[in-house]
Amino acid sequence: MTKKILILPGDGIGPEIVAEAVKLLDCLRADFGLAVETETALVGGAAYDDCGLPLPESTLDLAKSADAVLLGAVGGPKWEPLEIALRPEKGLLGLRAGLGLFANLRPAILYPQLAEASTLKPEVVAGLDIMIVRELTGGIYFGQPRGVETLASGERRGINTLVYTESEIERICRVAFDTAMRRNRRLCSVDKANVLECTELWREVAIRVGRDYPEVELSHMYVDNAAMQLVRAPKQFDVMVTTNMFGDILSDAAAMLTGSIGMLPSASLNAENQGMYEPIHGSAPDIAGQGVANPLATILSVAMMLRYSLSAPEHADRIEQAVSKVLNQGLRTGDIAAPGTTAVGTAAMGDAVLEAIRA
Ligand code: NAD
Ligand code: IPM
Ligand code: MN
Repeated sequence: MTKKILILPGDGIGPEIVAEAVKLLDCLRADFGLAVETETALVGGAAYDDCGLPLPESTLDLAKSADAVLLGAVGGPKWEPLEIALRPEKGLLGLRAGLGLFANLRPAILYPQLAEASTLKPEVVAGLDIMIVRELTGGIYFGQPRGVETLASGERRGINTLVYTESEIERICRVAFDTAMRRNRRLCSVDKANVLECTELWREVAIRVGRDYPEVELSHMYVDNAAMQLVRAPKQFDVMVTTNMFGDILSDAAAMLTGSIGMLPSASLNAENQGMYEPIHGSAPDIAGQGVANPLATILSVAMMLRYSLSAPEHADRIEQAVSKVLNQGLRTGDIAAPGTTAVGTAAMGDAVLEAIRA
């Protein structure tokens, strides 16, 4: 049966990198019999400019009825003056909440060809393959109360609330343990249980869920130490599971281990394995419109989509092998440039992946 994919280019470099992913889907459909149809809609600043809302009802409806969603990135300086509720980022958060995408899988894999592109010593990152499992629909991102209130004194007070129920912690931990079972069976739960009661509960629930997974070696680490260990000795980790905000921060740090944030894909899944797929980076306003952004994180997000939501792992393998081939050929966008390699722009990199797939 033909699967439906909703394409949400978004803002900044979003449309540029998503165009390369769409070319790839078209190629898989035309030349390799992938049964998908795509539809495109607005989200983020682009949607706000069109109708005054970062997540129009019509976009959310299309996302709900799609088998999978591919998103570029949202946000940019143009929309920063808007109130939080109207900001592009709210569109993304609305999609995550609206689709119930509580499990965010962020793999950080170092392609051997990029060992020199990492800012860390090659021996520290060689062979790196970790998976960060980030809770995505709870925590401080969504907790109530929130806002800015004016006190009797006239001074203003900003409020956000870190809150997790046991069932929210339990379901993300189960995803993480299941993920660890398919990998090297080591799971590190990252919290701040020495200070925050909410994450003390997180640790307690992680231990409880762990009783159902006796083959997985569960460890715990405070988030400040985890940030340090990720840079000191990242290969000690197999799977990490953590809260929404800690996961946001740690996954950007992990991205740099692989050479560039332009290399990291992600999958956001709900209980039915319906998913939204996006690079972990943002709209990169500093390079938007120049045709120089790295499209590989988005292209690798398509591979994750094929594997997790569209039951087409053979096509996913094809994409990942093509990316590796292109890196072997020495093609590099600016973010992963190294001496002796060939500089290419966004479209040329996308074309090279297509060629490698067809070869
Ligand atoms: P960013 O990830 O957009 O950019 C950080 C740095 O990485 C920049 O120097 C940028 O040029 C570079 N970079 C990012 N992606 C790249 C790519 N594919 N190729 C080459 N270089 C790349 O983070 P930021 O600057 O903090 O945020 C910019 C905007 O993006 C903000 O509005 C933010 O809210 C938004 N944002 C959106 C998402 C998302 O849509 N999922 C994620 C993060 C940030
Ligand atoms: C990400 C982004 C988002 C987040 C923002 C844009 C809402 O940083 O996808 O990592 O914080 O989750
Ligand atoms: Mn982020």
